[in-house]
Formats: sequence, structure tokens, C-alpha cells
Amino acid sequence: MDKQFKIKVPCSTSNLGPGFDTLGLALQLFLDVDVSTATDKTEISLTGEGKDYLPRDESNYIYKIYRESCEIVGVTPQPLLLNISSEIPLSRGLGSSGSAVVAGLVIANELNNGSLSRDQLAEIATRIEGHPENVSASCYGGLTVGCLANEKLFSCQILPPGELKAVAIIPEIEILTKEARTLLPNEVPFKVAVNNVQRASLFTAAMATGRFDLLREASKDMLHQPFRKKLIPGFDAILAGAYKAGAHAAFLSGSGSTIVALSSDGHEKIGNAMMQVVQELDYTAKILILDIAQHGYKVD
Ligand code: HSE
Repeated sequence: MDKQFKIKVPCSTSNLGPGFDTLGLALQLFLDVDVSTATDKTEISLTGEGKDYLPRDESNYIYKIYRESCEIVGVTPQPLLLNISSEIPLSRGLGSSGSAVVAGLVIANELNNGSLSRDQLAEIATRIEGHPENVSASCYGGLTVGCLANEKLFSCQILPPGELKAVAIIPEIEILTKEARTLLPNEVPFKVAVNNVQRASLFTAAMATGRFDLLREASKDMLHQPFRKKLIPGFDAILAGAYKAGAHAAFLSGSGSTIVALSSDGHEKIGNAMMQVVQELDYTAKILILDIAQHGYKVD
């Protein structure tokens, strides 16, 4: 019998300053996929981000992940009708790849009657993606702390109290995570490691308890932002603008190029302050004010 269902996956910002490959935060910007098995040939329609250049055949990334996942899940791959609609900009550090991995895997699981649990899917998605923070956020929602050890995912979710929103400035600049990772050092001094352990822990505790006054200090990072910020003109000035306008925290989203500021209020003012820097430097970007996604992927 043919099956039809819809999958909705939130995007994610990750690292959040010091939590490199560890912290993820799900945001209300979504990848939607309508799936139908009523076909003899795979056909993919695309709307939204990437619609003009992403493949519409079986080389599409979501379909490829679905095929790979069939083997893991234990189901025979088949042609699909996919209607993919994405609000998530690609190669901007908002977890578009993690969301696509989750979508492909969930398709395979649904076609095997949902045999694997959310926890199992999050673990498999982490193995495919290589790091846990984006896929954990897209699977569970909220703020997630993820640790991949010996192919096993240890993950925990926090829903920050209050009215925290993310102000995302999304430059036109595309950054491939793979390339941005080559900029990072193989080793760091002990004091750098201590700095990041302290701040990532403080960030997590502050988010759990609503101590947003601690986030500014907690979001300082020495592991990746100092090496990547040259990719985004005016990076320091954008952060300074966000803080001056009242942000609790501001950091590079994933490997960039998006910069995210967190705040309980004054979101438009913060967005305008960040945008002003970009305009003075004569490149383009857009601002999105995003709520935290409290839930991970959904299937209807
Ligand atoms: N933690 C990854 C990185 C996130 O910073 O390379 C990629 O979005």
C-alpha cells in the first residue's frame, strides 16, 4: 500500500560561542518534506532555499541520505515523490545539512513503520553528520548538549525559560563547514581548553536557569571563532553592535557566515545595529528574528 506523510525539521544554530561541536539550539526556521511512495520513478520538486540549483533526481542530498539510511533501518529503497520546501539558507551555519540528514533518515524510518526511536535516529544522524550538535537540536528541539563517544550519542535537552529569541544576521557569504574546519588548529594551549570548558559550562547553566546576564561572558570563545572570523568582514564590529543594542550573547552560528545574537527584547534594534556594520562595509545580508523551536522534527 502506498504511503504519504509530511516531515518538518527545525534548523539549528550551533557552537553558541564556546560549545564547539557540542551545543546546538533549534530555531523556528524549517525544512518541510512531503513524501509519497505512489510512483515508479523518483521525482523531486523544490521550493524555497536552493530551489534553483539543488538536484531534482536521485542525486538530491535528502534522497541520498534516505537511500543510505534504508540499509541502516532495514528497508528496501524505492522511488519516491518528494516535495521539498526549505526556509533554511544553505552554507550559512544554520544546520541545513543536519536538517537534511534528519529528514532523509526519518523518511527511511517511516517507511519501516517508525521502528527506530527518536534517540536511535539522533545517534545515527550524528554518525552520518560527524558531529552531534546540529542534528541533536533538529531531533529534540531547544538547547541540546551532545557528545559522540565510540559511535554512541549522549545528549541532553534544555528548554531555556523566558522569552529568548535569536536575531540572525545572514550574510550573502557562503561558507562550507568542511573548509572552515581546515582553518582550526590541531592543538590548543591548556589555558584555551580551560577557557572553553568554563564558558561552555557557564553558558549551559545560564540557559538552564534563565541567568541570561551571564551569557555575554559565557559566549566568549577561543577554540574556533578567532580562526574563522576573518571569513566575515566586520565580525568583531557586528558583535559589538549587537551588545551595544542590548544582546545577551552574540556568536558565530556554526561555521558561519551567520552571526546570531540572543536577547529577551529589543530584537529589531539589535538586528538594525548588526545590519548597520554590514552596510558600512558594503556587502549584503538579511536579518531574521527567530523563536526557539521547542520540539524537534515532526511527522504527520
Ligand atoms: N560544529 C560545527 C563546526 C558546526 O563549527 O564546524 C557546523 O555547522
